[in-house]
Amino acid sequence: NCVNKKMLCCICGSFGKRYAEVATANGKQVETLKVPLGEPMLPDLLDQKLSEIPDVEAVSITHNETSVGLLNPLAKLAEVVKSHGKLLLVDAVSSMGGTEIKVDRWGLDVCFSSSQKCFGVPPGLGVGSVSADALKKSETAENKGWYFDFKVWEKHQKKKGTPMTSVIPQIAGLNTILGMIEEKGGKEWFFDLYAERNRRIREGVQKLGLTMFPKSGYESPTVNCVNAPADVDGVAVYERMREEGFELAKGYGSVQNATFRIGNMGYIESETIDSMLDALGKVLVDLGWKV
Ligand SMILES: Cc1ncc(COP(=O)(O)O)c(C=O)c1O
Repeated sequence: NCVNKKMLCCICGSFGKRYAEVATANGKQVETLKVPLGEPMLPDLLDQKLSEIPDVEAVSITHNETSVGLLNPLAKLAEVVKSHGKLLLVDAVSSMGGTEIKVDRWGLDVCFSSSQKCFGVPPGLGVGSVSADALKKSETAENKGWYFDFKVWEKHQKKKGTPMTSVIPQIAGLNTILGMIEEKGGKEWFFDLYAERNRRIREGVQKLGLTMFPKSGYESPTVNCVNAPADVDGVAVYERMREEGFELAKGYGSVQNATFRIGNMGYIESETIDSMLDALGKVLVDLGWKV
């Protein structure tokens, strides 16, 4: 919808890389901007790259890089993209609902997520927003297929419908959670809940003597990526925690054995976080870790 020939994909981890693969599979010419794992995408670097390749039509950014638990400074990155007059496509799969995103104020042309992450609804429903500029570009975009053609969606949305059969149970679920959030105090209440749970997990992990994988100050509010201690396999931590009844997440990609991740999405009670931290301490000792 937004690119005829060429785009730039910012890569901070596996999901940024996936975006580039998707764009390539769709026949686009893809430039990439990569940073070392655990490092954020910073505005100056993006500014420099865009000056070098002025012919890209759009830029993709993963807001929250789930694979390494890192939150990019989206508002500042968006400023840079807009100063170069490019469309900005944002993968907000694991951030939408868990932290503030201002699509209009920040100038995000496409911003998408899904039901199963921060909203805590079963998988199956994608949600997103499309700017007037992105819709305009879609009018002349070639080979955009039909299923995700923004113009087709716009036509049906005007009639309060969808172009194809929808996942009604997930829509009902999303409606329920959004109603609950509204009742409890609105989105600020939900963001505070995420921040508080995340603080509890991160401080608990650090109290055990562990460190976080992402650069300090850029830790994700929705998934904590923890460095496995030296001589302890991150995958073994995941497997042993599973035996204890806690579903954490394995490290992802090239840091699979060096890290493990603790998700903070959906319905979680504070007491469950405390029990998880107790179990984690025991599991690490069982696995031979000496503080
Ligand atoms: C940032 C990000 N993008 C994309 C995806 C892919 O989403 P799905 O598994 O729904 O295809 C994920 C899944 O974890 C993700 O975290």
